[in-house]
Formats: sequence, C-alpha cells, structure tokens
Amino acid sequence: MLVWREELSVGHPEIDGDHKVLIGIINDFENTVDRWDGDKVVHEVLIKLHDYAMQHFTAEEAIQVANHYPLREEHKREHRVLLAQVVDRANRFFIKKTEPVTKEALQGVAEFLKRWLVDHIIKSDLRMRRYVAKGGA
Ligand SMILES: [Fe+2]
Repeated sequence: MLVWREELSVGHPEIDGDHKVLIGIINDFENTVDRWDGDKVVHEVLIKLHDYAMQHFTAEEAIQVANHYPLREEHKREHRVLLAQVVDRANRFFIKKTEPVTKEALQGVAEFLKRWLVDHIIKSDLRMRRYVAKGGA
C-alpha cells in the first residue's frame, strides 16, 4: 500500500491533492486484486485510474505551461507513456484478452503502478517544485 508523505509534496495544493487521489486509486486497485472480486471490478478500477490520471496530467501540464516550466515537453511525454502502458495492459488482459488474467499478473500491474507513480513524483514532479510551489516553498 502506498502512503503519501510530505517529501512527495511539490508545494502546489491542486497537484498534491491529485497525487493523493491517485495513490488512493492505486491502493484500491491493489486491494481489489488481492480480494479477487473478479475480472470486471479490476478492469473498472483500472479504467478509473486511467481516467483520473489523464485528467490530472492535463491539469498538471497546464500548470507547468502557466509557470513556464522548462522541462514541460519531456514531462508530458512521460505522462503519455504511462497512459499508453495502462491502456496496453487493460487491452491485453480485458479487451483483446491476449494474456491470461491471473492474480499474479494483476499483482504485477499493481506493483508497476506503485513504482511508476512514486518514481515519477520523486524524479520528475519534484523538479518542478521551485516553479509551481505556492507560499514560498
Ligand atoms: Fe507529472
């Protein structure tokens, strides 16, 4: 389970708030996999994560543009790659069904998502802190 902590703060309340929600959805995904409620629920949580992530990335990218963040183009690329990876996994498991849905495989997806989010926040999002932080952070 992921837990948001102060070191993950980029100093912008909207972005930090979104990251907390994303962490919540990823935890939800992991719990759903662990409880194994059936394929449909896992797929639904994955769609929810994709949709929220897309909305959040759009908002974060707009904040970067408004604050003239110099690395915004490469940052946007990272966001796009993640969304494509989520779509790819959803397709493989639930739409095209080219990969068998097993608990282990879905736990692998949960691990991937947890690692991606934390890495992305630490390695990429925190670099924009001095451009977007509010209140002298
Ligand atoms: Fe980001």
